Amino acid sequence: MKILIIGSGGREHAIAWKIAQSPRVKKIFCAPGNPGIAEVAECVDIDADNIEDLFYFASKQKIDLTVVGPEDPLLAGIVDKFKDGKLNIFGPSKRASIIEGSKVFAKNIMRKHGIPTADFRVFEDIKKAEKYLEKCSVPIVLKADGLAKGKGVFVCKTLEEAQEHLQEIMVEKIFGSAGDKVVIEECLQGEEVSILAITDGQTIIPFSSARDHKAIYDGNKGPNTGGMGAYSPSPLITNDLQLYIEENVLVPIVHAMKRENRPYNGIIYAGLMITNAGPKVLEFNARFGDPETQALLVRMKSDLVSLFMAAINNSLDKAEIEWYDSHSVCVVLASKGYPGRYKKGLPISGLQSVKAFKNVQVFHAGTAKDNGNIVTSGGRVLGVTALGKDVSEARTIAYSAINSLTFEGMYYRKDIGINAS
Ligand code: AMP
Ligand code: GLY
Repeated sequence: MKILIIGSGGREHAIAWKIAQSPRVKKIFCAPGNPGIAEVAECVDIDADNIEDLFYFASKQKIDLTVVGPEDPLLAGIVDKFKDGKLNIFGPSKRASIIEGSKVFAKNIMRKHGIPTADFRVFEDIKKAEKYLEKCSVPIVLKADGLAKGKGVFVCKTLEEAQEHLQEIMVEKIFGSAGDKVVIEECLQGEEVSILAITDGQTIIPFSSARDHKAIYDGNKGPNTGGMGAYSPSPLITNDLQLYIEENVLVPIVHAMKRENRPYNGIIYAGLMITNAGPKVLEFNARFGDPETQALLVRMKSDLVSLFMAAINNSLDKAEIEWYDSHSVCVVLASKGYPGRYKKGLPISGLQSVKAFKNVQVFHAGTAKDNGNIVTSGGRVLGVTALGKDVSEARTIAYSAINSLTFEGMYYRKDIGINAS
């Protein structure tokens, strides 16, 4: 088979790395890819948002399967375009991707179908939102409705903080029209877990659990990022809890989408808070999580390509997923200044020597090639992912591998997996 992967981050590198192990695969392309992905795939210089050119490329190359990494092309309708043109593509349609594209949609469908989530109100009018905020107790959570690169959520400790962010979202429009509506919701306490599942709209096969670390600093302090590290599995997710989440979150959301005439085929990602009152949904995403995917795919025994094809062909009822018993830890190496401004183009050293580590995969996220050297080109630069017999061993291996990597201003959290060890 000839495969095309769309995207250029650590998630796409992990997908490419896993797909490259499939006996069904002859050739992998990735658009636009990165220098790490280039080790297992041919990178094609087409932007992930350029649906017309991607479609032309896939048709011309007779691609057997296209896999979409990021959310933007999904929401722009890449799956609809490919399916109309009779090309196999894995991911939800534009109508179904709204589960990630609009927090208002996601919250309303959860309320309508009894899926556990934080209590909330939606506002289009800033005056009404301000008035409501005055009656709320803190902490309180504000969410811009639309896509905001993972930065549209504010967990506010004081009323003043909430009022400031409300102004930013609705008046200053820092997220553009994504801030036309705002969700104000109850702040949940507990531990976070990501549960991904693959579905063809009928059968839902949950993945093993993963724990993301969104805050920039150790101890989950500071502003949120796209994710600074992950481990898998989460010790919180017992078999009973996994079953509970399947029955009360994953199955109901997929069936609700069908009833709303938005049939869902692809990865459904539930970001959950495990509260004293049980798991509650923080968000749904319409794609693989990043960095969770890096921590998950190194543990997956099954053939990913067969799972994608089963989803596309509506035959997931005949499929199953097997996992290795080992635990994984992925630590993201970021540019100094991220999630704010940061420098690009800084040379990275140690990428060759780190290959000597057993049970370590270094997934590239924000890297580029400059005069034959690999340099930084994004906020999240690399994901160092290690496997161990338990999380503590995986942690030790990941952090010792990191010691052999450097670039100017390299920053990473030191506590990924520490709570699970
Ligand atoms: P989201 O994009 O909705 O998952 O939000 C990003 C992050 O904000 C989550 O991973 C949580 O850390 C935090 N968050 C979102 N909603 C809530 C909530 N209702 N209570 C507490 N924290 C939240
Ligand atoms: N790691 C969070 C996300 O992929 O949205």
